[in-house]
Amino acid sequence: MAGVLKFPDNFLWGTATSPTQVEGHVANEWTDYVASDGGHCRVACNHYHRYAEDVDWMAQLGVNAYRMGIEWSRLQAAPFAPLNGPELERYVDLLDRLKAAGITPMVVLHHFSNPPWITSAGGWLNPATVPAFVDYVTKLVSALKERVWLWNTFNEPDTYASLTYLLGGFPPFHKWRLLSYRKSIKHMAVAHVRASEVLRQAGNGGRTPEIGIAKNWTFFGPFQKHALWDRLLAGISHHAFNRFVLDAFLGGRRRAASTFLGVNYYGLTRFKNFEPMVPAGGACPKQLAQLGVVCDDMFERHPGGLGTVLRNFHRRYGLPLYITEHGSASSNENFRILDLTEHLRELHGAVEGGVDVRGFFYWSLLDNFEWQFGYSKKFGLLAVDFNDERLPRKMTRVGEFYRSICQARATTVAPRNSHAAIR
Ligand code: NOJ
Repeated sequence: MAGVLKFPDNFLWGTATSPTQVEGHVANEWTDYVASDGGHCRVACNHYHRYAEDVDWMAQLGVNAYRMGIEWSRLQAAPFAPLNGPELERYVDLLDRLKAAGITPMVVLHHFSNPPWITSAGGWLNPATVPAFVDYVTKLVSALKERVWLWNTFNEPDTYASLTYLLGGFPPFHKWRLLSYRKSIKHMAVAHVRASEVLRQAGNGGRTPEIGIAKNWTFFGPFQKHALWDRLLAGISHHAFNRFVLDAFLGGRRRAASTFLGVNYYGLTRFKNFEPMVPAGGACPKQLAQLGVVCDDMFERHPGGLGTVLRNFHRRYGLPLYITEHGSASSNENFRILDLTEHLRELHGAVEGGVDVRGFFYWSLLDNFEWQFGYSKKFGLLAVDFNDERLPRKMTRVGEFYRSICQARATTVAPRNSHAAIR
Protein backbone atom coordinates (compact mmCIF):
# COMPACT_ATOMS: atom_id res chain seq x y z
CA MET A 1 0.00 0.00 0.00
CA ALA A 2 1.18 3.49 -0.76
CA GLY A 3 2.11 5.60 2.27
CA VAL A 4 2.56 9.27 2.96
CA LEU A 5 5.88 10.48 4.29
CA LYS A 6 5.44 13.81 6.03
CA PHE A 7 8.37 16.19 6.41
CA PRO A 8 8.73 19.01 8.97
CA ASP A 9 6.67 22.13 8.18
CA ASN A 10 9.72 24.39 8.21
CA PHE A 11 11.68 22.12 5.85
CA LEU A 12 13.21 23.93 2.86
CA TRP A 13 12.05 22.46 -0.44
CA GLY A 14 14.26 24.06 -3.01
CA THR A 15 15.93 23.80 -6.34
CA ALA A 16 19.46 24.77 -7.44
CA THR A 17 21.49 26.22 -10.31
CA SER A 18 24.93 27.75 -10.80
CA PRO A 19 25.90 30.90 -12.71
CA THR A 20 28.07 29.38 -15.45
CA GLN A 21 25.50 26.69 -16.10
CA VAL A 22 22.42 28.89 -16.48
CA GLU A 23 23.16 32.60 -16.68
CA GLY A 24 25.03 33.05 -19.95
CA HIS A 25 27.13 36.13 -20.76
CA VAL A 26 29.85 35.27 -18.25
CA ALA A 27 33.54 35.97 -18.75
CA ASN A 28 35.39 33.25 -16.89
CA GLU A 29 37.53 30.21 -17.73
CA TRP A 30 34.49 28.46 -19.23
CA THR A 31 33.57 31.15 -21.77
CA ASP A 32 35.69 29.70 -24.60
CA TYR A 33 35.29 26.09 -23.57
CA VAL A 34 33.58 23.76 -26.04
CA ALA A 35 31.93 20.73 -24.44
CA SER A 36 31.83 17.18 -25.82
CA ASP A 37 28.47 17.84 -27.51
CA GLY A 38 29.79 21.02 -29.14
CA GLY A 39 27.92 23.28 -26.71
CA HIS A 40 29.33 26.30 -24.89
CA CYS A 41 28.06 28.35 -21.99
CA ARG A 42 27.97 31.76 -23.69
CA VAL A 43 24.19 31.99 -23.61
CA ALA A 44 23.30 28.89 -21.56
CA CYS A 45 19.67 29.35 -20.38
CA ASN A 46 20.02 33.11 -20.55
CA HIS A 47 18.96 33.25 -16.92
CA TYR A 48 20.95 36.50 -16.86
CA HIS A 49 18.18 38.19 -18.84
CA ARG A 50 15.38 35.82 -17.87
CA TYR A 51 15.72 35.55 -14.08
CA ALA A 52 12.41 37.32 -13.42
CA GLU A 53 10.58 34.74 -15.52
CA ASP A 54 12.53 31.95 -13.83
CA VAL A 55 11.42 33.20 -10.41
CA ASP A 56 7.82 32.96 -11.68
CA TRP A 57 8.51 29.37 -12.69
CA MET A 58 9.89 28.67 -9.22
CA ALA A 59 6.72 30.10 -7.72
CA GLN A 60 4.72 27.77 -9.96
CA LEU A 61 6.81 24.87 -8.75
CA GLY A 62 5.94 25.82 -5.20
CA VAL A 63 9.54 25.73 -3.93
CA ASN A 64 10.28 27.77 -0.83
CA ALA A 65 14.06 27.94 -1.37
CA TYR A 66 16.54 28.54 -4.18
CA ARG A 67 20.24 27.68 -4.09
CA MET A 68 21.85 30.12 -6.51
CA GLY A 69 25.37 31.20 -7.23
CA ILE A 70 26.74 34.70 -7.50
CA GLU A 71 29.41 34.99 -10.16
CA TRP A 72 32.60 36.53 -8.83
CA SER A 73 33.88 37.34 -12.35
CA ARG A 74 30.88 39.62 -12.93
CA LEU A 75 31.41 41.62 -9.82
CA GLN A 76 35.11 42.26 -9.51
CA ALA A 77 37.30 43.37 -12.41
CA ALA A 78 40.60 43.27 -10.51
CA PRO A 79 41.96 42.20 -7.13
CA PHE A 80 40.47 44.30 -4.32
CA ALA A 81 38.44 46.40 -6.77
CA PRO A 82 35.04 47.74 -5.76
CA LEU A 83 32.11 45.61 -6.86
CA ASN A 84 30.43 46.41 -10.17
CA GLY A 85 27.31 48.38 -9.19
CA PRO A 86 24.91 47.49 -12.04
CA GLU A 87 25.82 43.78 -11.87
CA LEU A 88 25.30 43.80 -8.13
CA GLU A 89 21.93 45.48 -8.65
CA ARG A 90 20.79 42.62 -10.88
CA TYR A 91 21.48 40.12 -8.10
CA VAL A 92 19.76 42.39 -5.58
CA ASP A 93 16.74 42.52 -7.86
CA LEU A 94 16.74 38.73 -8.17
CA LEU A 95 16.92 38.39 -4.37
CA ASP A 96 14.06 40.86 -3.94
CA ARG A 97 11.92 38.96 -6.43
CA LEU A 98 12.64 35.73 -4.59
CA LYS A 99 11.63 37.36 -1.33
CA ALA A 100 8.40 38.64 -2.86
CA ALA A 101 7.68 35.07 -4.00
CA GLY A 102 8.35 33.68 -0.51
CA ILE A 103 11.51 31.87 -1.65
CA THR A 104 14.53 31.74 0.68
CA PRO A 105 17.88 32.09 -1.11
CA MET A 106 20.94 30.03 -0.31
CA VAL A 107 23.85 31.87 -1.95
CA VAL A 108 26.84 29.93 -3.26
CA LEU A 109 30.05 31.96 -3.40
CA HIS A 110 32.21 29.64 -5.51
CA HIS A 111 30.87 27.12 -8.03
CA PHE A 112 33.66 25.88 -10.34
CA SER A 113 34.51 29.30 -11.81
CA ASN A 114 36.85 32.23 -11.17
CA PRO A 115 37.49 35.71 -12.54
CA PRO A 116 40.07 35.69 -15.38
CA TRP A 117 42.56 37.61 -13.23
CA ILE A 118 42.44 34.82 -10.63
CA THR A 119 42.90 32.13 -13.29
CA SER A 120 45.85 33.88 -14.93
CA ALA A 121 47.53 34.28 -11.53
CA GLY A 122 47.39 30.53 -10.89
CA GLY A 123 43.89 30.03 -9.54
CA TRP A 124 43.57 28.27 -6.19
CA LEU A 125 47.21 27.17 -6.28
CA ASN A 126 48.22 30.73 -5.57
CA PRO A 127 47.96 31.62 -1.87
CA ALA A 128 47.10 35.20 -2.92
CA THR A 129 43.72 33.91 -4.12
CA VAL A 130 42.66 33.48 -0.48
CA PRO A 131 42.82 37.17 0.55
CA ALA A 132 41.37 38.19 -2.82
CA PHE A 133 38.38 35.90 -2.25
CA VAL A 134 37.94 37.11 1.32
CA ASP A 135 37.95 40.71 0.09
CA TYR A 136 35.27 39.84 -2.49
CA VAL A 137 33.17 38.11 0.17
CA THR A 138 33.56 41.05 2.55
CA LYS A 139 32.23 43.46 -0.06
CA LEU A 140 29.50 41.14 -1.23
CA VAL A 141 28.18 40.34 2.21
CA SER A 142 28.14 43.96 3.21
CA ALA A 143 25.86 44.58 0.20
CA LEU A 144 23.61 41.54 0.66
CA LYS A 145 23.55 40.80 4.37
CA GLU A 146 20.01 42.06 4.90
CA ARG A 147 18.75 39.78 2.15
CA VAL A 148 20.71 36.57 2.67
CA TRP A 149 21.25 34.42 5.77
CA LEU A 150 22.12 31.07 4.17
CA TRP A 151 25.63 31.08 2.70
CA ASN A 152 27.32 28.24 0.91
CA THR A 153 30.97 29.21 0.52
CA PHE A 154 32.30 26.46 -1.77
CA ASN A 155 30.40 24.05 -3.97
CA GLU A 156 32.06 20.64 -4.29
CA PRO A 157 35.66 21.73 -3.76
CA ASP A 158 36.58 18.07 -4.31
CA THR A 159 35.01 17.95 -7.79
CA TYR A 160 36.48 21.31 -8.74
CA ALA A 161 40.03 20.43 -7.66
CA SER A 162 39.99 16.86 -8.96
CA LEU A 163 38.66 17.74 -12.40
CA THR A 164 41.04 20.69 -12.65
CA TYR A 165 44.24 19.01 -11.42
CA LEU A 166 43.81 15.24 -11.51
CA LEU A 167 41.39 14.20 -14.21
CA GLY A 168 41.85 16.86 -16.89
CA GLY A 169 38.12 17.63 -17.16
CA PHE A 170 38.00 21.32 -16.18
CA PRO A 171 40.18 24.16 -17.48
CA PRO A 172 43.21 24.22 -17.52
CA PHE A 173 42.87 20.40 -17.89
CA HIS A 174 45.82 19.25 -15.81
CA LYS A 175 46.26 15.57 -15.06
CA TRP A 176 47.64 13.66 -12.10
CA ARG A 177 48.98 16.68 -10.27
CA LEU A 178 48.33 15.33 -6.82
CA LEU A 179 50.18 18.05 -5.00
CA SER A 180 48.24 20.74 -6.87
CA TYR A 181 45.00 18.96 -5.96
CA ARG A 182 45.89 18.95 -2.28
CA LYS A 183 47.19 22.50 -2.31
CA SER A 184 44.08 23.94 -3.95
CA ILE A 185 41.83 22.14 -1.47
CA LYS A 186 43.88 23.48 1.43
CA HIS A 187 43.68 27.04 0.12
CA MET A 188 39.92 26.76 -0.36
CA ALA A 189 39.58 25.41 3.18
CA VAL A 190 41.49 28.39 4.59
CA ALA A 191 39.33 30.72 2.48
CA HIS A 192 36.20 29.02 3.87
CA VAL A 193 37.31 29.63 7.45
CA ARG A 194 38.18 33.26 6.77
CA ALA A 195 35.02 33.90 4.77
CA SER A 196 33.03 32.38 7.59
CA GLU A 197 34.50 34.93 10.04
CA VAL A 198 33.49 37.73 7.68
CA LEU A 199 29.96 36.36 7.27
CA ARG A 200 29.47 35.99 11.03
CA GLN A 201 30.72 39.48 11.74
CA ALA A 202 28.43 40.96 9.12
CA GLY A 203 25.41 39.10 10.51
CA ASN A 204 21.98 39.31 8.96
CA GLY A 205 20.03 42.11 10.56
CA GLY A 206 19.89 40.34 13.92
CA ARG A 207 19.66 36.80 12.59
CA THR A 208 22.70 34.53 12.83
CA PRO A 209 23.86 33.59 9.35
CA GLU A 210 24.26 29.93 8.44
CA ILE A 211 27.50 28.99 6.71
CA GLY A 212 28.68 25.77 5.12
CA ILE A 213 30.26 24.05 2.16
CA ALA A 214 28.50 21.65 -0.20
CA LYS A 215 30.44 18.39 -0.23
CA ASN A 216 29.91 15.97 -3.04
CA TRP A 217 29.54 12.54 -1.53
CA THR A 218 30.20 9.60 -3.83
CA PHE A 219 30.50 6.03 -2.62
CA PHE A 220 33.36 4.12 -4.26
CA GLY A 221 33.64 0.37 -4.59
CA PRO A 222 34.85 -2.50 -6.78
CA PHE A 223 32.41 -3.98 -9.28
CA GLN A 224 33.54 -7.46 -8.28
CA LYS A 225 34.04 -7.77 -4.55
CA HIS A 226 37.23 -9.81 -4.85
CA ALA A 227 38.97 -7.64 -7.44
CA LEU A 228 41.86 -6.53 -5.28
CA TRP A 229 43.16 -3.69 -7.47
CA ASP A 230 39.71 -2.21 -8.01
CA ARG A 231 39.16 -2.34 -4.25
CA LEU A 232 42.40 -0.53 -3.76
CA LEU A 233 41.45 2.13 -6.31
CA ALA A 234 38.07 2.58 -4.61
CA GLY A 235 39.82 2.98 -1.26
CA ILE A 236 42.25 5.57 -2.65
CA SER A 237 39.37 7.49 -4.30
CA HIS A 238 37.41 7.50 -1.06
CA HIS A 239 40.41 8.78 0.83
CA ALA A 240 41.36 11.47 -1.71
CA PHE A 241 37.90 12.76 -2.61
CA ASN A 242 35.95 12.22 0.61
CA ARG A 243 38.14 11.91 3.70
CA PHE A 244 40.92 14.30 2.80
CA VAL A 245 38.50 17.04 1.74
CA LEU A 246 36.26 16.70 4.78
CA ASP A 247 39.28 16.80 7.06
CA ALA A 248 40.60 19.89 5.29
CA PHE A 249 37.33 21.79 5.77
CA LEU A 250 35.98 20.34 9.00
CA GLY A 251 38.92 18.77 10.83
CA GLY A 252 40.00 20.02 14.26
CA ARG A 253 39.30 23.66 15.01
CA ARG A 254 38.14 24.34 11.46
CA ARG A 255 34.88 22.55 12.28
CA ALA A 256 33.77 25.67 14.17
CA ALA A 257 33.74 27.74 10.95
CA SER A 258 30.68 25.90 9.65
CA THR A 259 27.17 25.99 11.02
CA PHE A 260 25.92 23.39 8.54
CA LEU A 261 27.17 20.82 6.10
CA GLY A 262 25.72 20.61 2.61
CA VAL A 263 25.63 17.25 0.85
CA ASN A 264 25.47 16.86 -2.93
CA TYR A 265 24.46 13.28 -3.42
CA TYR A 266 24.22 11.42 -6.73
CA GLY A 267 25.33 7.88 -5.92
CA LEU A 268 28.01 5.34 -6.46
CA THR A 269 31.04 4.78 -8.65
CA ARG A 270 32.27 1.21 -8.97
CA PHE A 271 35.47 0.22 -10.73
CA LYS A 272 36.01 -2.70 -13.08
CA ASN A 273 39.56 -3.24 -14.29
CA PHE A 274 40.39 0.30 -13.14
CA GLU A 275 37.58 1.83 -15.21
CA PRO A 276 34.75 3.74 -13.51
CA MET A 277 31.45 2.01 -14.35
CA VAL A 278 29.44 5.19 -14.85
CA PRO A 279 28.31 7.00 -17.99
CA ALA A 280 30.01 10.18 -16.75
CA GLY A 281 33.29 8.25 -16.73
CA GLY A 282 32.81 7.09 -20.32
CA ALA A 283 31.20 3.67 -19.70
CA CYS A 284 28.65 2.57 -22.29
CA PRO A 285 25.10 2.76 -20.85
CA LYS A 286 24.01 -0.35 -22.76
CA GLN A 287 26.82 -2.44 -21.33
CA LEU A 288 26.14 -1.07 -17.85
CA ALA A 289 22.51 -2.09 -18.17
CA GLN A 290 23.56 -5.58 -19.27
CA LEU A 291 25.73 -5.85 -16.17
CA GLY A 292 22.80 -4.78 -13.99
CA VAL A 293 24.30 -1.40 -13.07
CA VAL A 294 21.39 1.05 -12.62
CA CYS A 295 22.43 4.50 -13.81
CA ASP A 296 20.94 7.75 -14.98
CA ASP A 297 22.88 9.41 -17.81
CA MET A 298 25.68 10.22 -15.36
CA PHE A 299 26.10 8.06 -12.25
CA GLU A 300 25.14 4.74 -10.67
CA ARG A 301 22.09 5.17 -8.45
CA HIS A 302 22.28 4.14 -4.82
CA PRO A 303 19.35 5.64 -2.90
CA GLY A 304 20.11 3.62 0.25
CA GLY A 305 23.46 5.39 0.45
CA LEU A 306 21.77 8.72 1.08
CA GLY A 307 20.47 7.54 4.45
CA THR A 308 23.89 6.11 5.27
CA VAL A 309 25.79 9.28 4.48
CA LEU A 310 23.32 11.49 6.36
CA ARG A 311 23.55 9.33 9.48
CA ASN A 312 27.36 9.23 9.24
CA PHE A 313 27.70 12.98 8.85
CA HIS A 314 25.28 13.55 11.71
CA ARG A 315 27.28 11.26 14.01
CA ARG A 316 30.67 12.52 12.93
CA TYR A 317 30.13 16.28 12.74
CA GLY A 318 26.91 16.95 14.66
CA LEU A 319 26.07 19.77 12.25
CA PRO A 320 22.66 20.49 10.71
CA LEU A 321 22.60 19.13 7.16
CA TYR A 322 21.11 20.24 3.87
CA ILE A 323 20.86 18.14 0.73
CA THR A 324 22.32 20.95 -1.32
CA GLU A 325 21.95 18.89 -4.51
CA HIS A 326 20.26 15.76 -5.63
CA GLY A 327 18.71 14.99 -9.00
CA SER A 328 19.05 12.76 -12.02
CA ALA A 329 19.67 13.23 -15.73
CA SER A 330 17.54 11.18 -18.07
CA SER A 331 15.01 11.58 -20.82
CA ASN A 332 13.00 8.87 -19.06
CA GLU A 333 10.80 10.85 -16.70
CA ASN A 334 9.40 7.77 -15.00
CA PHE A 335 12.93 6.84 -14.04
CA ARG A 336 13.57 10.30 -12.63
CA ILE A 337 10.36 10.31 -10.61
CA LEU A 338 11.15 6.90 -9.19
CA ASP A 339 14.69 7.98 -8.41
CA LEU A 340 13.46 11.05 -6.55
CA THR A 341 10.88 9.01 -4.62
CA GLU A 342 13.50 6.51 -3.53
CA HIS A 343 15.90 9.19 -2.36
CA LEU A 344 13.19 11.07 -0.48
CA ARG A 345 12.23 7.87 1.30
CA GLU A 346 15.80 7.59 2.54
CA LEU A 347 15.86 11.24 3.50
CA HIS A 348 12.64 10.84 5.42
CA GLY A 349 14.00 7.79 7.23
CA ALA A 350 17.05 9.77 8.31
CA VAL A 351 14.95 12.72 9.52
CA GLU A 352 12.64 10.38 11.46
CA GLY A 353 15.71 8.76 12.96
CA GLY A 354 16.80 12.09 14.44
CA VAL A 355 19.21 13.41 11.80
CA ASP A 356 18.87 17.19 11.64
CA VAL A 357 18.29 17.74 7.90
CA ARG A 358 16.85 21.16 7.14
CA GLY A 359 16.24 21.17 3.43
CA PHE A 360 16.48 19.54 0.03
CA PHE A 361 17.50 21.30 -3.19
CA TYR A 362 16.65 19.51 -6.41
CA TRP A 363 19.36 19.73 -9.08
CA SER A 364 18.31 21.48 -11.21
CA LEU A 365 15.66 24.11 -11.88
CA LEU A 366 16.48 24.05 -15.60
CA ASP A 367 18.14 21.79 -18.12
CA ASN A 368 21.49 23.51 -18.36
CA PHE A 369 25.17 23.51 -19.35
CA GLU A 370 26.57 20.38 -17.71
CA TRP A 371 30.26 21.36 -17.89
CA GLN A 372 32.23 18.81 -20.03
CA PHE A 373 28.99 17.31 -21.36
CA GLY A 374 27.32 20.50 -22.52
CA TYR A 375 23.55 20.36 -22.96
CA SER A 376 23.22 16.62 -23.41
CA LYS A 377 22.33 15.85 -19.79
CA LYS A 378 18.76 16.69 -18.84
CA PHE A 379 18.58 17.47 -15.13
CA GLY A 380 15.82 20.11 -15.23
CA LEU A 381 12.53 20.32 -13.41
CA LEU A 382 11.89 22.60 -16.36
CA ALA A 383 12.97 21.40 -19.80
CA VAL A 384 14.71 23.99 -21.98
CA ASP A 385 14.66 23.72 -25.75
CA PHE A 386 18.20 24.69 -26.71
CA ASN A 387 17.42 24.29 -30.42
CA ASP A 388 15.06 27.22 -30.22
CA GLU A 389 16.92 30.50 -29.77
CA ARG A 390 14.11 31.80 -27.55
CA LEU A 391 15.10 29.04 -25.09
CA PRO A 392 11.54 28.22 -24.04
CA ARG A 393 11.04 26.58 -20.64
CA LYS A 394 8.50 23.82 -20.21
CA MET A 395 7.29 22.10 -17.05
CA THR A 396 8.31 18.44 -16.94
CA ARG A 397 6.41 15.63 -15.24
CA VAL A 398 9.26 15.48 -12.71
CA GLY A 399 8.58 19.17 -12.04
CA GLU A 400 4.89 18.46 -11.51
CA PHE A 401 5.72 15.61 -9.18
CA TYR A 402 8.13 17.81 -7.23
CA ARG A 403 5.48 20.52 -7.04
CA SER A 404 3.09 18.08 -5.38
CA ILE A 405 5.77 17.32 -2.78
CA CYS A 406 6.56 20.98 -2.15
CA GLN A 407 2.88 21.79 -1.71
CA ALA A 408 2.09 18.89 0.60
CA ARG A 409 5.43 19.04 2.49
CA ALA A 410 5.16 15.30 2.03
CA THR A 411 5.69 12.61 -0.50
CA THR A 412 3.58 9.60 -1.29
CA VAL A 413 5.61 6.46 -1.74
CA ALA A 414 4.96 2.95 -2.85
CA PRO A 415 6.35 -0.01 -0.87
CA ARG A 416 10.09 -0.40 -1.01
CA ASN A 417 10.27 -3.61 -3.06
CA SER A 418 8.22 -2.13 -5.90
CA HIS A 419 11.25 0.01 -6.73
CA ALA A 420 13.77 -2.78 -6.92
CA ALA A 421 14.87 -1.32 -10.26
CA ILE A 422 16.85 1.29 -8.40
CA ARG A 423 19.24 -0.07 -5.89
C1 NOJ B 1 27.29 18.82 -8.97
C2 NOJ B 1 27.66 20.19 -9.46
O1 NOJ B 1 27.65 21.07 -8.37
C3 NOJ B 1 26.78 20.72 -10.57
O2 NOJ B 1 27.41 21.84 -11.11
C4 NOJ B 1 26.53 19.64 -11.58
O3 NOJ B 1 25.79 20.11 -12.65
C5 NOJ B 1 25.82 18.48 -10.92
N1 NOJ B 1 26.67 17.94 -9.88
C6 NOJ B 1 25.43 17.35 -11.86
O4 NOJ B 1 26.56 16.75 -12.36
